[in-house]
Order: sequence, then C-alpha cells, then structure tokens
Amino acid sequence: MVTADAAAVAALENESLSPWTAAQIAALPEQKQYRARLCRAADGELVGWSCLLLAADEAELLKIAVPLARRRQGIGRALLADAVAGAARAGARRFFLEVREHNQAARALYAGAGFIEIGRRQGYYRQPADDALVLEKSLRGIYEKSA
Ligand SMILES: CC(C)(COP(=O)(O)OP(=O)(O)OC[C@H]1O[C@@H](n2cnc3c(N)ncnc32)[C@H](O)[C@@H]1OP(=O)(O)O)[C@@H](O)C(=O)NCCC(=O)NCCS
Repeated sequence: MVTADAAAVAALENESLSPWTAAQIAALPEQKQYRARLCRAADGELVGWSCLLLAADEAELLKIAVPLARRRQGIGRALLADAVAGAARAGARRFFLEVREHNQAARALYAGAGFIEIGRRQGYYRQPADDALVLEKSLRGIYEKSA
C-alpha cells in the first residue's frame, strides 16, 4: 500500500462500522510495524483490504473489509489467509483479533479459519454499542521446520 491509496481505502472503510479516517490510513505506509494489504480486481478497483500489526512474536488483525457489492465472493477469506500467512512468515507465533459480538459475518469467517474465542471486552465498541470478542489462532507449526 502507498499513501496514494488512502482515499480509496477510506471510502471502503466508510462502508463498515468503526471506520478509520483517511489520515490514519495515509500514515500507515510510514509505520513499518503495520502491514496493510490491498486486493484489487483486474481493472484496478479496490475490492478489499487488511491491516496487521506485528510486534515481537505476536500479530493482531486490526482491519479487514470488503466493499458491500463484493461480499460473499471469497475475498474476505482470501485476505484473512494472506494475513495469517504473512504473520507467520514474519515470525509471529500467535495471531489475535477483536470482533463485535453482533458481527455474524466476520465471526463466521473467523470460525471457519480456525480462530477460537479467548476473551470478551464488555462495552468495548460504540456506535452501536457492542462487546468485543477476542479471538486467537495459533501459528505454531506454520512455516516452522519440522524436527
Ligand atoms: C467480514 C467480511 C470481511 C467478510 O468478507 P467476504 O468477502 O464477504 O467473506 P467471504 O465471501 O470470503 O466469506 C467467507 C466465509 O465467511 C462467512 N461469511 C461471510 N459473510 C457472511 C454473512 N453475511 N453471513 C454469514 N456468514 C458469512 C461464511 O462462512 C463464508 O463462507 P461461505 O461463503 O462459504 O459460506 C465482510 O463482511 C466485511 O467487509 N464486513 C465489514 C467489515 C468487518 O466487519 N470486518 C471485520 C471486523 S472484525
């Protein structure tokens, strides 16, 4: 991702709850601990994005979003698989994320990818209010050499 992509990503963010601002997104390319990935159609249209935070041997998925008109076509699953593989390649051993309790689409996506619930943050989200579920997927064994 480059700074010139920020406006398109911000427009995509605005289709979801708790969107990041264009200024937050424009700052990402300068912050090396963040790994932002864009998914484009053949004609260049932005059809999804993800943002991962890498720190020590942990990764946290901060964002994953697909435009309304492009949902249920497998893009979210592909972006999530890319984020997991990228985290493992970068040396992460644990992969975390937070999801709204009432976000059934995202929860189904994560459950299908093997994430398990490890905690709850009550009243974490606003507009609308919701609890955050903390999910984890272990990356041990991915990209590690067998003994
Ligand atoms: C969550 C999100 C990224 C999923 O993207 P997507 O491209 O539509 O997902 P996919 O087509 O790859 O779906 C993969 C699986 O997720 C689940 N899923 C996705 N959307 C779903 C829905 N609306 N209802 C139930 N399950 C759903 C299904 O298990 C699906 O597999 P299937 O199609 O074989 O049944 C998308 O809904 C989105 O951008 N939502 C707004 C942003 C957001 O909530 N991000 C997550 C924040 S934690």
